[in-house]
Amino acid sequence: MSKQEHTGANAPLLRCESLFRYFGAVKAVDDISFDLHPGDILGIGGPNGAGKTTLFDVISGLTASEKGKIFFNGNEITKHSPHKRCHAGIARTFQLNAAFETLTVQENTLASSYFGYSNKIFPGYRFSKDSIERADWALDLVGLSDESGMPVDTLSVYKRKLLMIAGALSTNPDILMMDEPVGGLNANEVDDIMEIVRKVSKAGVTILMIEHVMRFLVSLSDRVIIMHHGQNIYEGEPRDLASDKTVVDVYLGEGASELISDALGAGGNE
Ligand SMILES: Nc1ncnc2c1ncn2[C@@H]1O[C@H](COP(=O)(O)OP(=O)(O)OP(=O)(O)O)[C@@H](O)[C@H]1O
Ligand SMILES: [Mg+2]
Repeated sequence: MSKQEHTGANAPLLRCESLFRYFGAVKAVDDISFDLHPGDILGIGGPNGAGKTTLFDVISGLTASEKGKIFFNGNEITKHSPHKRCHAGIARTFQLNAAFETLTVQENTLASSYFGYSNKIFPGYRFSKDSIERADWALDLVGLSDESGMPVDTLSVYKRKLLMIAGALSTNPDILMMDEPVGGLNANEVDDIMEIVRKVSKAGVTILMIEHVMRFLVSLSDRVIIMHHGQNIYEGEPRDLASDKTVVDVYLGEGASELISDALGAGGNE
């Protein structure tokens, strides 16, 4: 890979080159490579334990890749700390809700906005104007402005998911990574988060997301990767998933064609 391919007109925003993460004998991430280009919505699916979250941990820097390289905007970030990656423009949410329970919705989002945007060697006593503006923008985008004064421990699971998305967005990311943003939600809530993802994408944020809910995954993604035992067993358009025998055998099972065509129909894949 020449320097030019990293930085030219068609250069990827994120490039993962042959990433590995083993836990003892478990090959959680086993030679994963892919590119993410500006404006992409790339969905990642696969059975439980396939290594999806571990891949997110490797990309966001929570755990190290044993081999391989990660490039963001043409710069190698393989050994960068999680906060440095976040400041550079890679933000993520987590599979399980994570927030400061006794703080309010606004205080949580301000903490993300202030500390997630740039390095604070000497944190100030006040949130800066731009931190407040980013937090307000993010809360408005996910529809949580009216709840900004609510303590987090009073929120529903759905609203906590929105809060995590708002926190990530408040860092003004180039890439938003979401780990199962609609897991455990009802159909209306799934629809609402689909709309939010479309808005985020229209705002110019590139999206990488993990999801088991097929309607969500296939109708929003322009490309999907399916992982199994740490490996990439499929990369391509969502509509072709059901014609891939390995994907059907290890993940989608019987009725895969109906599942995918219903999901594409229900989601309105524009
Ligand atoms: N910290 C860890 N220590 C040991 N094994 C781990 C650790 N984290 C993950 N694993 C193992 O790595 C494999 C991949 O786990 P991972 O959580 O990445 O899967 P996943 O695809 O996100 O699954 P799910 O869909 O259930 O969230 C599993 O076998 C898991 O038990
Ligand atoms: Mg997971």
